[in-house]
Amino acid sequence: MRLDVDIARKTFINAAGERTDVLSGINFVLATGEVGVFIGPSGCGKSTMLRILTGLDHDFQGQVSRPADARIGMVFQEPRLLPWRSVEDNVRLAAPQAGAARLSQLFAALELNGHRNHFPHELSLGLARRVALARAFAVEPDILILDEPLASLDATLAANLRDQIAALVDNRSVTTMLVTHDIDDAVRLGDRLFFLSPRPAQILATVPILTPRAARSEADLNRIKADLARLNVVNV
Ligand SMILES: Nc1ncnc2c1ncn2[C@@H]1O[C@H](COP(=O)(O)OP(=O)(O)OP(=O)(O)O)[C@@H](O)[C@H]1O
Ligand SMILES: [Mg+2]
Repeated sequence: MRLDVDIARKTFINAAGERTDVLSGINFVLATGEVGVFIGPSGCGKSTMLRILTGLDHDFQGQVSRPADARIGMVFQEPRLLPWRSVEDNVRLAAPQAGAARLSQLFAALELNGHRNHFPHELSLGLARRVALARAFAVEPDILILDEPLASLDATLAANLRDQIAALVDNRSVTTMLVTHDIDDAVRLGDRLFFLSPRPAQILATVPILTPRAARSEADLNRIKADLARLNVVNV
């Protein structure tokens, strides 16, 4: 599903009346099934932008258009699981329509089978992130929003999960927005990279990656990273 984003301005005003401009002139369109990756310095406004895109925050100037019936899957920067529910129930509650076969397939793909009856406090951060990913995918999203889903995981697990995200996104066409600080994740997962300025975030550069995700060799990835280094937009 296509997503049209035009955020003219987003400002927070605190109790003392002080204004913080967070987003300024963010315009882009993601085509159906396209994976947009957003890269920008800490505090520039990425999570704020994602909250606007999901419809959790309506207090901004501008417009975000997506089909009214779009199903949205979201992985927040913190896994945000319900603490009093098991792993399995966390996923089931988010996706009551998901059948047993689909859930088993997801738990297997994310290597969560041994944890279905565990509670969030019994999970490591990496496990909790995988549950958050399972929950987001279980809703069979048309639009998938991932806020640093691989942060603070060890390199092997991060690479493993990154491949799983790529497979899940390519399996059924999911319009995806991914925030990351990791340029390697960006070039492996993205169809288009958006480089953001410091707060208030603006789009400094948009870089399409033309080679399809599954066809990118290590040499392609290195070439893309070298091109980005030459563009001098990587500042995260
Ligand atoms: N509810 C809020 N009220 C006031 N200011 C806020 C609120 N949420 C975020 N901010 C401020 O907006 C700015 C952007 O925050 P945001 O969380 O969107 O950044 P980010 O780009 O996601 O950073 P990071 O990479 O560290 O996750 C920050 O200066 C933050 O302090
Ligand atoms: Mg953030």
